[in-house]
Amino acid sequence: MNAPLPTLERPFASEVLDAAAAQAVGPEYVAAVGKVIASHVRNELTGASVFDEPAIALATTPREKWLACRIAMEEYGHHLGFQRLAGDLGLVDALSRQPLSVFEFELTTWVEFVVLKAIVDLAEVVLMDELVECSYLPLRHLARKLLPEERFHVSFGAVRTKELALQPAIRPEVQRAVDQLVVFTLPFFGRSSSSNNEAFRRWGIKSRTNDESRAEFIERSRAFVVGEAGLTYPDVSVTWDGS
Ligand SMILES: [Fe+2]
Ligand SMILES: [Fe+2]
Repeated sequence: MNAPLPTLERPFASEVLDAAAAQAVGPEYVAAVGKVIASHVRNELTGASVFDEPAIALATTPREKWLACRIAMEEYGHHLGFQRLAGDLGLVDALSRQPLSVFEFELTTWVEFVVLKAIVDLAEVVLMDELVECSYLPLRHLARKLLPEERFHVSFGAVRTKELALQPAIRPEVQRAVDQLVVFTLPFFGRSSSSNNEAFRRWGIKSRTNDESRAEFIERSRAFVVGEAGLTYPDVSVTWDGS
């Protein structure tokens, strides 16, 4: 195939139906879409096992336990969905890299869990919103299918965060969790200068720079934290250099 290689100015504009079609586009395309899929394979599994599954034990009422079970089940389901796409593409080492720094957050309370769903899952929504337009159709369709569940996780967290923030005795703990989790989440979007992100944009897999995605998350999470929960938002930067 002698089509000119896509550039940032003229990104790849075709739709890629399946794994065989991705292979036909070429190894650079497979590598780029494979990296995006692999990061979701890792993050969904790590999040489910270090946050959502332990949260079932932190929930105090049968209804909250039932909802925590449902969320954990859905997050493991997200992992399996991305894992299936990774398998179709022939990725064998999707789980070999380290998960993101946000997973080093040590979850010990139900308050932290509900704030985490409101903040960290909002970051996942920001990333998945972009994949709904992605050139690789299996990834586009999976993002469309999973987004309603991610939005449910965010609203589950947001409703409870707002309720808890109204209780004077608990409010400082909520604010502390917000301060920590917003800062933990920012690296989730990658470095400001990223050759991976450039490849994703050249191949039509993503449309935004990492800083643009981070700025979108900051805007939306600040609107929730300040505008809806009446809390303060930490002083953060839209850029991140990896340190
Ligand atoms: Fe998820
Ligand atoms: Fe989620």
